Amino acid sequence: MKVLVTGGAGFIGSHLVRQLLQSAHQVFVLDNVSSGAWQHLPQGKDTCVCWQMDIRDALAKEKIQQEKFDVIVHLAAQTMVDASIKDPVYDASENIMGTLNVLEAARQCGARVIFASTAAAYGDVVESDLPLLETHELLPQSFYGLTKVGVEKYLALYHEHYGLDYVVFRFANVYGERQGDSGEGGVISIFAKRIAAGQDITIYGDGTQTRDFVYAGDIARGICKAMTTENVNAVYNLSTQTETSLLELVKTLSEVSGCEITTKFDSPREGDIYRSMLSNQKAKTGLGWAPQVSLKEGLQRTIEYFCGN
Ligand SMILES: NC(=O)c1ccc[n+]([C@@H]2O[C@H](COP(=O)([O-])OP(=O)(O)OC[C@H]3O[C@@H](n4cnc5c(N)ncnc54)[C@H](O)[C@@H]3O)[C@@H](O)[C@H]2O)c1
Repeated sequence: MKVLVTGGAGFIGSHLVRQLLQSAHQVFVLDNVSSGAWQHLPQGKDTCVCWQMDIRDALAKEKIQQEKFDVIVHLAAQTMVDASIKDPVYDASENIMGTLNVLEAARQCGARVIFASTAAAYGDVVESDLPLLETHELLPQSFYGLTKVGVEKYLALYHEHYGLDYVVFRFANVYGERQGDSGEGGVISIFAKRIAAGQDITIYGDGTQTRDFVYAGDIARGICKAMTTENVNAVYNLSTQTETSLLELVKTLSEVSGCEITTKFDSPREGDIYRSMLSNQKAKTGLGWAPQVSLKEGLQRTIEYFCGN
């Protein structure tokens, strides 16, 4: 298949591009390398067609239309919750207007769109609702979450009005090699880098707060399944449906790194949720997807990567 990955030079994109190339797809990457890097791709820019461009650029739309892709995986985004609160206009310029530029091009070339949404779409939830189903009410607490929900709704209307096929994924906390520390889910990359550098780590709160950590290679496999599934025009969580506390995380990091980790505690950060876990039953039945990489194995790969760098 001929596939465009926007944001393909980023963290999740770099895992996806590897899998797409292994399956002999024809891969194009569009990225402005604002948070990504071409070195994240296997053999840099040599294995796929790379366009250094902004999704908001009119030329980007033109080029996408000309190439006539089968699938567009849209990962490029402003990914920082804090940044969206500081500057909602900038957030919307990338995540709404930039995305519309991509959707317009997809509409013209008849491509299926696979979109990276987020657990932040759900906002604060009551713990008795965990694990969260896709049908749970969406009450985002940040402009980042809001623009992601907005695009989900745009996609539903693009399908209704123009027949565009789409799959929306709400990712849990993704981790793995090549992750930066600024976007979502960065706690593991922050900890792993500090452990690799022999530094202590800080936990905000008492460490009993939980997250649903899913390995980026598993996310990439889910996206690959969405490229050909018949169960389109739907929203799926991609998660492990397992809660891991930060204390458990540090213990596993210590085991896989073989390091004694000095942990400091600070007061909880305002706005941080206490528990998080997404149901993955719909992805299991609808896409035949299930996470394959255990937390221990994923952390091992992540630590090795950061130690090597
Ligand atoms: N990492 C997570 O835990 C997580 C969780 C939920 C959702 N997501 C979503 O998954 C997607 C990928 O996230 P990631 O963690 O790989 O982030 P990332 O920052 O590593 O990747 C984003 C990529 O998009 C590029 N980009 C940003 N703005 C652009 C623009 N205007 N034009 C062209 N390229 C642009 C960046 O250079 C980068 O390569 C994002 O849409 C993010 O919101 C990530």
